[in-house]
Amino acid sequence: MACKDFQEAMKTGLEAQLRPPQPLHVFQAEQTEAAFRHFQEANVIGKKVVELHPGMTLVVNFQTKARYNFPADATNIVAGGLGGLGRSFARWMASRGARNLVLVSRSSIKSNAAKALVSELGMQGVCVATLQVDIGDMTSLSHVLDDLTKSIPPIRGCFQATVALRDNLFENMTHEDWVVSTRSKVTGS
Ligand SMILES: NC(=O)c1ccc[n+]([C@@H]2O[C@H](COP(=O)([O-])OP(=O)(O)OC[C@H]3O[C@@H](n4cnc5c(N)ncnc54)[C@H](OP(=O)(O)O)[C@@H]3O)[C@@H](O)[C@H]2O)c1
Repeated sequence: MACKDFQEAMKTGLEAQLRPPQPLHVFQAEQTEAAFRHFQEANVIGKKVVELHPGMTLVVNFQTKARYNFPADATNIVAGGLGGLGRSFARWMASRGARNLVLVSRSSIKSNAAKALVSELGMQGVCVATLQVDIGDMTSLSHVLDDLTKSIPPIRGCFQATVALRDNLFENMTHEDWVVSTRSKVTGS
């Protein structure tokens, strides 16, 4: 029954040569902005159609809004902050509003990459403190942090980006390899 009604309706529609509402304003997909502008104009009647073709190149201009920004009046600590991942963290955090960073490592600023990071962040107005301490040594860590926290905004975040890689098969591993590699990850965390 429904099928028959539908076929009847289609037949009537085709015989009556149904047409889309006129006038029809056709825009290419790359002219979408023009289509919207046209739509805003007063006294415009008819329909606007945006045509898409396979393989078409579209220029898209969109702005993304960060879902999270680091408060500027807080301090974030990045353990291993002068290493590869740590430097990426620090740059990303600065791009998201962080203004006080503490970068912790055992050897401090030695590499050119670390020096470049600290000067780059400084130029962006980020206050960077580099702490030279082993995060597996609780006494030393507490000592340097106690001193530092007197002069920095409250600590609101800690990131763990340390690794001391002593890759080895277990049977070939020395006790020192084991201690060094688990120290930052296990004891330090
Ligand atoms: N790179 C990769 O492909 C990869 C893959 C998977 C996971 N990850 C993880 O990503 C994190 C960072 O890796 P990465 O590639 O950035 O390594 P990285 O460049 O070697 O950096 C590690 C940093 O940790 C510091 N560190 C090591 N032990 C420490 C300790 N006891 N106390 C304080 N600082 C210490 C090192 O500085 P000092 O030596 O001066 O102390 C160094 O700055 C690690 O958790 C790692 O397991 C990395």
